[in-house]
Amino acid sequence: MPVDLAVVPVAGRGTRMLPITKSQPKEMLAVGTKPVVQYVAEELEQSGVRRMVLVTGPGKTAIENHFDIDAGLIAALRENGQESLLNKLAFERMQLEYIYMRQRRQLGLGHAILCARPVVVEQPFVVALGDSIIGVHAESKIVAQMTELFEQQEADGVIAFERVPRSEVVHYGIADVGAERDNYFELADLVEKPGVDEAPSDLAVAARYVFKAELFDYLEKTGAGKGNEIQLTDAISMWIRDGGRVLGVQLDASEPRFDIGNFPSYFRAFFEFAACDPEHGEEFRSFARSYLDEAEG
Ligand code: UTP
Repeated sequence: MPVDLAVVPVAGRGTRMLPITKSQPKEMLAVGTKPVVQYVAEELEQSGVRRMVLVTGPGKTAIENHFDIDAGLIAALRENGQESLLNKLAFERMQLEYIYMRQRRQLGLGHAILCARPVVVEQPFVVALGDSIIGVHAESKIVAQMTELFEQQEADGVIAFERVPRSEVVHYGIADVGAERDNYFELADLVEKPGVDEAPSDLAVAARYVFKAELFDYLEKTGAGKGNEIQLTDAISMWIRDGGRVLGVQLDASEPRFDIGNFPSYFRAFFEFAACDPEHGEEFRSFARSYLDEAEG
């Protein structure tokens, strides 16, 4: 049976994005014309996901509201002769079923995933971080490729990776690469936020995963790690040491990961999405050009 269930954790506090995130979920921040989590949902739908478990927490109701069908708004647009705007709400009709679970205490990403266990039970599932977009326009099929590889290889897990500058390994889970194949590699280990000198590679975990449900057993056994949080990376590392077979695939350079969890990366993402926007991109590029010319001149 194809993997059609995804867990999308969106319960984090987003402290690196304060003050924006004080009363607004970082997953609802605008990147170009849409909130981050809408890109994530659209990407998952086109990769064959049909059920999305959003793990939410305090202050995150804006996410639930965003995916609801807003009959009142639709009626108002019709009454006011604004039918042309209805296509902006087309995402409400995606072939997705939404399930909301609550992470009652923010104990880290690993813990957030564990909160979805009662829904996932025994089936394999995708994990997609709710604060990360893959590729401009989010047309990536990386999750479909990963689920295919997962099934074909009968792996325990498949993880997407992206090359990062050596100085940035300190922010991510980093791959210790084992045997390399044509379009994937075996993961010998995974190290959470290593020092620049200790990092086994420059391949950073890129916010998309596929797992067998056995992952939950390892998350249960994982104690608090870096930052006093239950780290997904630690659970995967324990699983690999126990004989789990986890594979890595590398994101294509044309499909970078946009991490909306820190300001420098958020600014870059907004700029690139605004510049590539089919409706407003040209005007924005011309503004950006003259702004930079003036600033430099
Ligand atoms: P981050 O690792 O960026 O953590 O989350 P964070 O807590 O949101 O942000 P900072 O570190 O305080 O700035 C990656 C993804 O995992 C979710 C987040 O919502 C985000 O989509 N997450 C993180 C949870 O759902 N629960 C948590 O306890 C932590």
